[in-house]
Amino acid sequence: PAPACTLVIFGAGGDLTKRLLMPALYNLTGSGLLDEATTILGIDRQKQTSEAWRAGLGETMQSFTKDQSAEFHVPSIDADVWNRVAERLHYVEGDFLSPDTHRALAGRIKGNALFYLAVASRFFAPIAEALGAAGLLKEDGNSFRRLVVEKPFGSDLASAKELNARLLAVAAEEQIYRIDHFLGKETVQSIMAVRFANGMFEPVWRREHVEYVEITAAETIGVEGRGAFYEPTGALRDMVPNHLFQLLCMTAMEPPVSFDAEAVRDEKAKLIAAIRPVEPGDAVRGQYEAGSLDGSDLPAYRHEPNVAADSRTETYAALKLTIDNWRWAGVPFYLRTGKRMAARRTEIALHFRPAPTRIFKDTPVSDTVPNVLRLQMDPEQGIRTEFSAKIPGPAMRLGAVATTFRYGDFFEERPNVGYETLLYDCMMGDATLFQRADAIEGAWRVVEPLIESWGAGGEPDGYAVGSQGPAAADRLLGRDGHGWSPLA
Ligand code: BG6
Repeated sequence: PAPACTLVIFGAGGDLTKRLLMPALYNLTGSGLLDEATTILGIDRQKQTSEAWRAGLGETMQSFTKDQSAEFHVPSIDADVWNRVAERLHYVEGDFLSPDTHRALAGRIKGNALFYLAVASRFFAPIAEALGAAGLLKEDGNSFRRLVVEKPFGSDLASAKELNARLLAVAAEEQIYRIDHFLGKETVQSIMAVRFANGMFEPVWRREHVEYVEITAAETIGVEGRGAFYEPTGALRDMVPNHLFQLLCMTAMEPPVSFDAEAVRDEKAKLIAAIRPVEPGDAVRGQYEAGSLDGSDLPAYRHEPNVAADSRTETYAALKLTIDNWRWAGVPFYLRTGKRMAARRTEIALHFRPAPTRIFKDTPVSDTVPNVLRLQMDPEQGIRTEFSAKIPGPAMRLGAVATTFRYGDFFEERPNVGYETLLYDCMMGDATLFQRADAIEGAWRVVEPLIESWGAGGEPDGYAVGSQGPAAADRLLGRDGHGWSPLA
């Protein structure tokens, strides 16, 4: 198990605590990774007892057995395991920023503590400062004090810098764990294993062999009642400098010298430093219009609750990135993400250059298949390679074939929400899967021209619910002679 600590959750009554942190703590308890002496203090403004908090969370856990769409959908909850989580849970009613709350906390915390800020981003810096003022972030050599910060980490370069500065004024970089939940996904972590634990991929993983790279995070869900959050945020801020950049880093960074946090994070930072700020002409923003998906007619974004009728917030973003380093010079990286698209798919596709010469002269060009390697995260989890092979028969004709590796065929997949590894790593003090200040700021630097240009005016391009996204996004790749992989 990880060292015993007090896990303090700010935002005990929130969605993240219910939907993700509790299932993760349940799984960690089930696997024996949480020390018996670890306690969990939940803080929120709502008046309730510890019993009521426990009971409410217990009900939510039970509801996952019926809710197919829950991140943690399981056939049953093991009562014994859940009870072992529940008995550690204590509720503290209080305002996040009031000195009373922090005094009460100081009285209850001895030794190791992890402060998890599962709250709206405007509270990140003030809570950290209040913890600092109460002396709760002081480490004494025998114990750790760590801050876990959720996303969104800033809303542009200036605000991310300010947030970093305020956090770093009360805690050392080593005490700060900036969450990006994509890094908790097994399939995302596995990109490093595929690239760096094998000798067969890396030699071709470069400009000499790769023509372009597509990174997709397409969703079928809409804004799901999160209009108030989404309106000032939009798809670019919500997904690109964080989640999509993590996929990009895993795909494009140089091999780290070791699997240590700093070695891995150094490589990510170097990669991000090599990415050119995006020209507005190399990006497309879209917003979904009414349409039909899986047989249901769904409303336009502008008709969602808490969304302005003339909203210009983008629900889709596509961009072309240029990486100025030896490995990737001249290889475009196309990123796209959108809500209410034709299918849910998170995938990285490396498109390889064609064979240097065509010896099969009688085969029509249209029969040859591009060489593509797809790292699939969602809903498929695996790797698919697509290439040409000979169609049986006397003539030399080529046909499309594919091989697929699925994680589930080789490894037992246990239902998890991704926060298991992240929480465990925070307790272990392993920051490999967390974002460092320089990389976060670097990512904002890359998208800053878009934030400025899109903020200054203009309208997003429309795309119908259930479609492939705006036509302008096809033109963005089309002008380079490339195309997006269709979302089936
Ligand atoms: C979140 C975004 O960070 O990631 C959501 O705020 C998005 O808008 C979600 O839906 C996607 O994550 P996942 O794990 O469902 O791919």
